[in-house]
Amino acid sequence: MTHNFSSLVFLLFLFVASSYAIQGAELDAICKQSKNPTFCFNLLNSIPGGATDANLVDLVQYALDVTRVNLTTTTKLIKRLIRRNPNDIEARDHYTLCLNRIHQGAFDAVKSTEAILKSREFYILNSIACGIRTQIDLCIDGESPSDTPYNDTSLLPAYASVISEVVEIIVIISNLLDK
Ligand SMILES: *[C@@H]1O[C@H](CO)[C@@H](O)[C@H](O)[C@H]1NC(C)=O
Ligand SMILES: *[C@@H]1O[C@H](CO)[C@@H](O)[C@H](O)[C@H]1NC(C)=O
Repeated sequence: MTHNFSSLVFLLFLFVASSYAIQGAELDAICKQSKNPTFCFNLLNSIPGGATDANLVDLVQYALDVTRVNLTTTTKLIKRLIRRNPNDIEARDHYTLCLNRIHQGAFDAVKSTEAILKSREFYILNSIACGIRTQIDLCIDGESPSDTPYNDTSLLPAYASVISEVVEIIVIISNLLDK
């Protein structure tokens, strides 16, 4: 177990170290800013061809593609949760709000971010990308600051937190593109 774990860490190290030659330093700089650097490295290195063959725009586009897949998975989960709670008004209200925020708001924000990326208006990319996370936060925390967050024991908060991590990477790279 310990052995397997250390070989995994070593392989990961080799993988990261082998990226170093081309733009590993940049990859380091990006992922060190994120709350979960391991997740960040894994995600960016999972781009077909590897992160080292990609430029910053490719990486943002890839992270947006991942976000879209995540949002689709999460939308399906929310629809299931709504079906499963026909008599629980609080749960239904919460998940209906989340359906609007995730299925509608967050997808729209991904589309806007993609459009801004294509038009290379990097100076507003960051704020538009933050809009994706706002939609997710509104689902989890409620619509207004006075709302008590719904005590959600489903998988939804974990799914939402993964999406937030992906969006965080998009925001970090957006800041670099704006330089
Ligand atoms: C989101 O995508 C990432 C990367 O493919 C994956 O690890 C994660 O499980 C996905 N999460 C959801 C909720 O779809
Ligand atoms: C949330 O619900 C779980 C399971 O029903 C319960 O154990 C926990 O105490 C609740 N937390 C809050 C803050 O109400």
